[in-house]
Amino acid sequence: MRKQIVAGNWKMNKTFSEAETLITDIADALDEVDLKDAEVVLCPPALYLEMATDVAFESNFKVGAQNIYPEDSGAFTGEISPLMLKDLNVSYCIIGHSERRKYFHETTEFLKRKADALLKHGIRPIFCCGEVLPEREANQHFEVVQKQLAESLFHLTQEAFQEVVIAYEPVWAIGTGVRATKEQAQEMHAYIRGLIAARYDGATANEITILYGGSCNGKNARELFEQPDVDGGLIGGASLKTEEFLQIVTSL
Ligand code: 13P
Repeated sequence: MRKQIVAGNWKMNKTFSEAETLITDIADALDEVDLKDAEVVLCPPALYLEMATDVAFESNFKVGAQNIYPEDSGAFTGEISPLMLKDLNVSYCIIGHSERRKYFHETTEFLKRKADALLKHGIRPIFCCGEVLPEREANQHFEVVQKQLAESLFHLTQEAFQEVVIAYEPVWAIGTGVRATKEQAQEMHAYIRGLIAARYDGATANEITILYGGSCNGKNARELFEQPDVDGGLIGGASLKTEEFLQIVTSL
């Protein structure tokens, strides 16, 4: 059975004390929820990872980072390595987010190195893919996603690939309030699963968690998560409010 996941990508939000309050509030609320086999992942800014893993130690969630540099150590001023994340008990790391592709010019080749660097240390990449609006309007969205996956992930062995979580995040849906319809999400998720089956095999494709991200909130999460190939969500804005985030978690 593939794992269902709701992950909160806090992006560059919250002061330390606000982050501490939000994490402990979410941890307390999760104590009341039967997650069964599902997993909740909180991805706060890097400065708060240690505090988050301390709280997670006695709680029902895992911690993810939002970024890494793909080397273990060295002269890379300002960067954080997967070895450092491993040392803090961070379980996941988002890579390939459209904001990093756009603002920090991250290429598919660089993301390939990041995937390798994380997997070397047993940290599960949450690999984001998705098209911008003109690409969807030109009916190029399948081709765009195929290329992103092929160029950054499909070099992995089957064993390594099984540790990857995919997040389909259509860029036009991120932070806009315009989400993909349940049909659009299901269509792309099924397409991604088909690509994985073609590259690896059907059993691998069936085991991979594929999340939806982009204006997912407490009101629309359930109908998205009900789709057969949607295994949960990568949540931005709505992950910054305890009640709404919990509403999403309980929509699994
Ligand atoms: P929003 O949920 O704010 O649209 O952001 C989605 C996202 O980018 C998660 O990584």
